[in-house]
Amino acid sequence: MFYFYAHRLGDKGKSVNDPHRKLKDAFGRYATGVTVATCRAADGALAALTVNSFTSVSLDPALVLWSIEKSASCFDIFDRADNYGVSILKAGQENVSTAFAMRGAEALEDIETTVWKTGAPILVPRLAGFDCRIVDRRAAGDHVVLVGEVVEYDVQNGAPLIYFASQYGVGPQA
Ligand SMILES: Cc1cc2nc3c(=O)[nH]c(=O)nc-3n(C[C@H](O)[C@H](O)[C@H](O)COP(=O)(O)O)c2cc1C
Repeated sequence: MFYFYAHRLGDKGKSVNDPHRKLKDAFGRYATGVTVATCRAADGALAALTVNSFTSVSLDPALVLWSIEKSASCFDIFDRADNYGVSILKAGQENVSTAFAMRGAEALEDIETTVWKTGAPILVPRLAGFDCRIVDRRAAGDHVVLVGEVVEYDVQNGAPLIYFASQYGVGPQA
């Protein structure tokens, strides 16, 4: 009998044969928050996914960035969009993170959203939101870095959802 172990799963669903496992584990030692990035392209197409590569870049002008994997099913929509929204998740929103990671824009049907200036959806339950105009795109290996100028944002109090070593946690209260 022939056994094919190309996708044998170990603890927590990690692929044992993933050639990038050790690098992913090292990158994953950097604890991050969790965000949902969204966009609306000029033709009305919506895209959304869970993102932890988000980072702040500049205060004046206000710039942020995150990177999207070129092979992501929603890549083409972000590639042609001129905007994105970033909603920072709060403690207790693991289900939101999982939904957007697995279902993309379909998950927007199950959560209240609002629109500010650019047309990108912003999640209503959030710790902070950023409405951004894409001002730069940089190809970087198997990802593209999307730099956004913040045109609107808000800040709320609460504790953040944290992501570390493929596990969720809760950060301190703001
Ligand atoms: C906590 C977490 C953080 C993630 N961060 C990113 C990210 O920064 N960039 C990215 O392209 N995908 C990221 N992903 C993966 C996407 O959310 C999504 O699962 C993936 O794009 C699905 O691809 P598919 O639609 O092609 O199946 C992250 C997933 C999780 C659970």
